[in-house]
Amino acid sequence: MPMSVASQSMSKTKTSVSKVHDKILVLDFGAQYSRLIARRVREAGVYSEIVPYSISLDDIKKCSPKGLILSGGPASVYAENAPKMDMGILEAGIPILGICYGMQLMAKLLGGTVKHTGISEYGDAQIKVAQRSKLFEGLPDVQQVWMSHQDSVGEIPKGFKSTASTKTSPIAAMEDQEKGLMGVQFHPEVIHTPHGNDVLKNFLLETCKAKGDWTTESFVDETLGKIKAKVGDNKAICAMSGGIDSAVAALLVHKVIGKNLTCIFVDHGLLRKDEAQRVQEVFAENYQINLKTISCADRFLSKLKGVVDPERKRKIIGNEFIKVFEEEADKTEGVKYLVQGTLYPDVIESGGTKGSAVIKTHHNVGGLPEEMNLDLIEPLRLLFKDEVRKVGLELDMPEDMVYRQPFPGPGLAVRIIGEVTAERTDILREADAIVVEEIKKAGLYRKIWQSFAILPAIKSVGVMGDTRTYSYPIIIRAVESEDAMTADWVKLPNDLLQRMSSRIINEVEHVNRVAYDISSKPPSTIEWE
Ligand code: XMP
Repeated sequence: MPMSVASQSMSKTKTSVSKVHDKILVLDFGAQYSRLIARRVREAGVYSEIVPYSISLDDIKKCSPKGLILSGGPASVYAENAPKMDMGILEAGIPILGICYGMQLMAKLLGGTVKHTGISEYGDAQIKVAQRSKLFEGLPDVQQVWMSHQDSVGEIPKGFKSTASTKTSPIAAMEDQEKGLMGVQFHPEVIHTPHGNDVLKNFLLETCKAKGDWTTESFVDETLGKIKAKVGDNKAICAMSGGIDSAVAALLVHKVIGKNLTCIFVDHGLLRKDEAQRVQEVFAENYQINLKTISCADRFLSKLKGVVDPERKRKIIGNEFIKVFEEEADKTEGVKYLVQGTLYPDVIESGGTKGSAVIKTHHNVGGLPEEMNLDLIEPLRLLFKDEVRKVGLELDMPEDMVYRQPFPGPGLAVRIIGEVTAERTDILREADAIVVEEIKKAGLYRKIWQSFAILPAIKSVGVMGDTRTYSYPIIIRAVESEDAMTADWVKLPNDLLQRMSSRIINEVEHVNRVAYDISSKPPSTIEWE
């Protein structure tokens, strides 16, 4: 990337006066799909946030939403502890779309009934759309939808009409067009409902009258304005990990405060091949970020000497990382802010959706202690991962960094079973580079969640030429996943496995055997430690 790219991107995203975007609130009733709903709304160009179902009408009013979506949820509306909502919200004149449980709750609270049939409708179904429906405006009369429910609406509340039915649910959708209250029994947010996005768009753009002008570009403009207002002439530091989140967060802050941002990149010697060099090249040279790379592989290796327990390895690396970062931060005078790449899922998970500051500690070597006494800047705390990638591209980050597969904070240490030594780290790093290179050449890198090599703590006998060898095996792991909670091993083509195997054995010293891990998560995990 030529040096001019950073300055080109400067002109592309100007720090304009930030404008207030229309907002939709998704009330979460415990659905596995709440996040997906929020993402679909954003994909339709309307900014959305997830809030707990127990939110008060006053808190809703403070957000001035254009509309609300009530998510699905696992409960029955008649269950003892079924989540309920403030009745005033339904009467506040704000358009509302209830999905599945959300529709049933709306029906019950407004005077309709919900039947507990005991028969579940799960999977694909066909709905027949009644005429004059706002949600189905411009869409086919018969369409496929995806259902997952047991209860269903028996009688609709006064003022509503039933707008769609399936064979088993006479009321698969309902609308009170005058009040802008609507419900669907199916899930418009999943891809198995082919017209689901159109249904959502009809609600957002026609009923809520949202403008649909929220884009990555507008997010960047707005965020730059907010950073400027918050940080002013003060100094900030950021722990850069080489991953996309901290990189995009740093790039946004750097655009506003330039040299007042110092990024600290701790190279603990457990990174992938050429990773440290690439971070230096992209951020220090191309973007001209004030980047301090601390190369301290020996320091980490000496702490790891003789350690084989996976959790101890993690703790040692995490603690040492914090020490190095603090030492470097202390050398930077007058710092007031700490930049972190916290994402929206972290905020939701830690219950911080009401705006509390969240320090990322879970699973993350970059989790820094609160005692550092620095105010946080978290420019990405309202974004999902795929949106962060789009912002990265908007800021002209090179694609290989934007689409880099996730990498654990403790790095190669949790892929080296047994003791982590300089020699064993080198063996794994070389083998891993071959795996990644071949996966990329086969055009599979972006389709796969993670693909990498593991070095176990055993040796086996082999033969090379006329001599017997006694060396390490390498294990290849490649998994498909949506969010790392579950993962399936990938059926890689045999010729690709063959190429990786022969290259690793020929090119990496001390390796005489290659195996492929064919286990999924659960019961296995993605990493070996
Ligand atoms: P497992 O092995 O639990 O991994 O299936 C799930 C995801 O988390 C990543 N991972 C980590 N990330 N520090 C991290 O920052 C860690 O200690 C750590 N352990 C696992 C793993 O790469 C996968 O994406």
